[in-house]
Amino acid sequence: MSAILPPAERLWWKEPLERTELLWIVIALVWCLIMFFMMPYWHVYGQQNLANEAYRTTPEAYMKKVEEMVAKFKVREEGSPPTPVVRPPAGADVYLVARLWNWYPILELEAGKSYRLHLMSLDWLHGFSLQPENINIQVHPGYDHVLTITPTQPGKYAVVCNEFCGINHHAMVSPLYVVK
Ligand code: CUA
Repeated sequence: MSAILPPAERLWWKEPLERTELLWIVIALVWCLIMFFMMPYWHVYGQQNLANEAYRTTPEAYMKKVEEMVAKFKVREEGSPPTPVVRPPAGADVYLVARLWNWYPILELEAGKSYRLHLMSLDWLHGFSLQPENINIQVHPGYDHVLTITPTQPGKYAVVCNEFCGINHHAMVSPLYVVK
């Protein structure tokens, strides 16, 4: 029967439910519930979603903390223009700035130790992509975004901006060192 005609039986909703329809409703419901409980399950056991926090802040307040960290834990300079390489102690708050068009400073972290990594943009949207790991985080202006991280594998990583942020977006690349 065409849907544009009124139903012949006006009380169609009082018809008993057909078995196959009931079966599919149950299958869909069970699947919905499985997927629903998989969300918290993956968060805890899947090691996929990063547990994170975000706080409102200003570029001035954030930069103050960055400069304090750089002054305390700078070990050398690298690149041109020279960028400080910072090696904070295990468990420390580590600050990384995204801005047009670089990351500041360069981080050197110890494998097997946990850090509270803070991310913030000083201007507009950037993206923190850690290569070759599969980590992607948007870096917003106005928010101090904190991730608890534990690097496991020593090596030289690359922090690549993965949100298009203007003419020098492609140049917004920085090393990140994980040492033993
Ligand atoms: Cu910053 Cu693209």
